[in-house]
Amino acid sequence: FGEFGSGKTQICHQLAVNVQLPRDKGGLEGSVIVIDTEKTFRPERIIQMAEAKGLDGKEVLKNIYVAHAYNSNHQMLLVDNAKELAQKLAKEGKPPVRLLIVDSLTSHFRAEYVGRGALADRQQKLNRHLHDLMRFGEIFNAAVVVTNQVMAKPDTFYGDPTRPIGGHIVAHTATYRVYLRKGKGELRVARLIDSPHLPEAEVVFKITERGIEDK
Ligand code: GTP
Ligand code: MG
Repeated sequence: FGEFGSGKTQICHQLAVNVQLPRDKGGLEGSVIVIDTEKTFRPERIIQMAEAKGLDGKEVLKNIYVAHAYNSNHQMLLVDNAKELAQKLAKEGKPPVRLLIVDSLTSHFRAEYVGRGALADRQQKLNRHLHDLMRFGEIFNAAVVVTNQVMAKPDTFYGDPTRPIGGHIVAHTATYRVYLRKGKGELRVARLIDSPHLPEAEVVFKITERGIEDK
């Protein structure tokens, strides 16, 4: 999670490339399903990142299956479609789906369920959606990555004045949470907030023409 421009979508693009790398280069030789809710998926950016890793950009794109979600109900349905697609790819002997991305998890929910009265409904639906996503990960042995924006907390006087939109449900369902912040220019900071076996830590990275790179 992180504010606009903090690099959530760029990291999703980079993951969609990296998961296709050979195992000895840290990849999983897998394909990718992307549920894009904000129409921010850019094929030409994938090609750029793939070529920076010495891969054939067009081949990499062929293993990324992108669906646009028009509203929150559609977004939830797309997880069922993702299961069908993953089964089909397995049958056809194509690279198995090793990564499912939802970018952004919360934007439709936030836009559609407005006001305090809608909060319980929204959280209930988000909860179901998250469990469907977790189940996908378990069935197909795939990583699931979701993005979440932050909003301003008007009542903060000390500390960080932002909080993730999805609230406790999103926070507690995720195994790892990474908080992204903007630095100077192309620099960004990633902070590991929640992890079952890693200490909380921060790293600086940069977003360049080649993709996500170490500082
Ligand atoms: P929201 O979806 O608006 O919440 O933001 P986000 O966190 O998804 O931000 P995103 O990943 O889109 O990051 C945007 C930043 O990445 C921009 O401010 C640019 O600095 C950088 N960026 C995006 N596309 C490119 C690109 O093609 N080349 C380079 N060099 N940088 C890019
Ligand atoms: Mg984005």
